[in-house]
Amino acid sequence: MSGRATQGVHLTGVQETLFIPLYAKALDARRHRPILGDRKADELVRAMPFDIERLTHSGVGPVLVVRARHLDEWVRRFLAVHPSALVLNLGCGLDSRVLRIGPAPGVLWVDLDFPEVIEVRRRFFEERDGYRMLGSSLSAPGWLEGFSPDRPVLVIGDGVFEYLDAGELQTLFRRVTGHFVRGEFVFDIMSSSALARGNASLAHRTGARLRFAVDDLATLDTLDPRLHRVEVVSLLRSPYHPWGLRLLYGLASLSHGLRRVIRLVRADFGTPGSQAQRSGRAGGSP
Ligand SMILES: C[S@@+](CC[C@H](N)C(=O)[O-])C[C@H]1O[C@@H](n2cnc3c(N)ncnc32)[C@H](O)[C@@H]1O
Repeated sequence: MSGRATQGVHLTGVQETLFIPLYAKALDARRHRPILGDRKADELVRAMPFDIERLTHSGVGPVLVVRARHLDEWVRRFLAVHPSALVLNLGCGLDSRVLRIGPAPGVLWVDLDFPEVIEVRRRFFEERDGYRMLGSSLSAPGWLEGFSPDRPVLVIGDGVFEYLDAGELQTLFRRVTGHFVRGEFVFDIMSSSALARGNASLAHRTGARLRFAVDDLATLDTLDPRLHRVEVVSLLRSPYHPWGLRLLYGLASLSHGLRRVIRLVRADFGTPGSQAQRSGRAGGSP
């Protein structure tokens, strides 16, 4: 990777948080038995002309890697059923999910982040047929307008939605469900205690602040009445942790509070199932 590609990479505040999962994935890729095996992340971290480690705090890395791995599986499942889907990977940072998944030719994959982040991203990733990068704030109106409403849409929020406030998230969800006929959201949520701990750690590392917490899953229902929760998984109970951690986290997850520290949510809209079951609200546990 040329030195010129990394010249002037200077992101601050919430944009800088992209280096936290990137570094976690790079460390994972260097392991003998990686969980994600994302070599592009390692390549990017090695190319950055500054110390990324100072942004992260030990212990959180494996959780971020498992989060990405779990979401990857959900993405694969969706694309297996919807080979002509539109994928909106929101707040993509420098994540190389599009390379990890390798979507089929019928899929249109869009990676979106702030224009400053996309400007950096373009130095390391190339657009091609079926792959685009879009520089916009998620809160800006209008970025959805160019997309055909008829394609099934998959919206990915990996470590992103907690940086928005409830009002911004509500607007975002409603814009998506108002624009597309049908689709699915896959994203992570943090509890208020996890948010407080995360903010204490972020305060002296970046200027970013986590804002959206979910303790009671019913909070999600207030975001958008069209959304129907299909699956909710405690990240502590993910099968992708190495067995030692799985045991430890499995024990920790016996505590209701710890179980909901960080969870993954799959929710759909516009399908016959989501209409029929909306009143039943599946995915109520853990
Ligand atoms: C913790 S990073 C996660 C990056 C990536 N999803 C990953 O897993 O590697 C959060 C990302 O969300 C982006 N982000 C946060 N708020 C945003 C907003 N309002 N509009 C666009 N991007 C946003 C940041 O710029 C950053 O790249």
